[in-house]
Amino acid sequence: MPSRLSAGAFGEGWGLFVAHPSTRLTACRADFQAALHGWYRVHQRRLPWRTAPSLYKTVVSELMLQQTQVATVLPYFERWLRELPDFAALAAAPEAKVLKLWEGLGYYSRARNLHRLAQAVAAMPAPPRTPAAWRELPGIGPYTAAAVTSIAFDEPAAVVDGNVVRILARLTDERQAFRDGTAAVKHFTPLADALIVGSHPGTHNQAMMELGATVCFRQKPLCLTCPVAAFCAARRAGDPETLPRLAPKKIEQRTIDRAWCTHNGRLLLRRGGAGAKRLAGLHELPELADLGLPPDDLPLLAVKRRAITRFQITERIHAVKADAPLRTRLAKNAALEWVPLAELDRVTLSGPHKRWIAELRK
Ligand code: ADE
Repeated sequence: MPSRLSAGAFGEGWGLFVAHPSTRLTACRADFQAALHGWYRVHQRRLPWRTAPSLYKTVVSELMLQQTQVATVLPYFERWLRELPDFAALAAAPEAKVLKLWEGLGYYSRARNLHRLAQAVAAMPAPPRTPAAWRELPGIGPYTAAAVTSIAFDEPAAVVDGNVVRILARLTDERQAFRDGTAAVKHFTPLADALIVGSHPGTHNQAMMELGATVCFRQKPLCLTCPVAAFCAARRAGDPETLPRLAPKKIEQRTIDRAWCTHNGRLLLRRGGAGAKRLAGLHELPELADLGLPPDDLPLLAVKRRAITRFQITERIHAVKADAPLRTRLAKNAALEWVPLAELDRVTLSGPHKRWIAELRK
């Protein structure tokens, strides 16, 4: 099908003979890069992993930035660098310290992976330099491998995530509806790879990230100040905010019933262990099922809603009386722990649980 852009530029009827917008964009790659990189040099946010960059800072920041916004990451990153300044310090740290420093950032497997990664890197004569070698390390997927090796070693590997997909879909006025984000990433990876050729790869990738984060917004893109607006086919079509087209996510509803159970100034918590990989080392309010109790008839203290990946979760927190028979029964469950309310800082709580507990104590 001839694209709208080609028909406009070359007249109706000639569309079939005109290059696809991605081919045309690749053909003016040098001009595109000059516009984008010139803008980035002036307008980039001054972020702590960009000043005096190092491989370690790059790896820590990229893992923290997976699924998490820059503003959230900033205080965590600064504290992490003070406490664990290099791969050797991180490799030698106890896991409890690593998780405590991550407390509140969510997706704790990232912290455990970063810890194992540091141990692997510390044991090598030198850190690996290629994206393929980085992908062998824990917690490193294609995006992070490209980010780390391009920024730290000038490897010409393009990063492609939701931000980059959005930019490329708009630049090329790509109107097809993708099944999901993965399909869109796969579609745009060849174009992203073509656009990075001949550039300083770390600058190019970070400029793309920066454009996605500060200009090419999902809902109201700032086309008037966009450094690459002249290259943007969706801008010419007039509706860049409608791209990319992604099939709506199938959301699943879940309800979890939890217990608020205190006794003699101590709160009952469940330690995530071997059976709960995602939560290993973290403490949470226990589920009623852990206590062998049905939710019926228990007083409801709070209802919380949160979204994790494709799940919409309703968490219902019930008051549970810690009578003697229950306490005896619970003593047999090694995953349950009575933690003094005054010493809650001793354990690592997942972010939402920390907030709920603070609320319920009031
Ligand atoms: N998101 C992922 N990596 C990033 C980086 N290096 N800078 C800003 N935002 C990012």
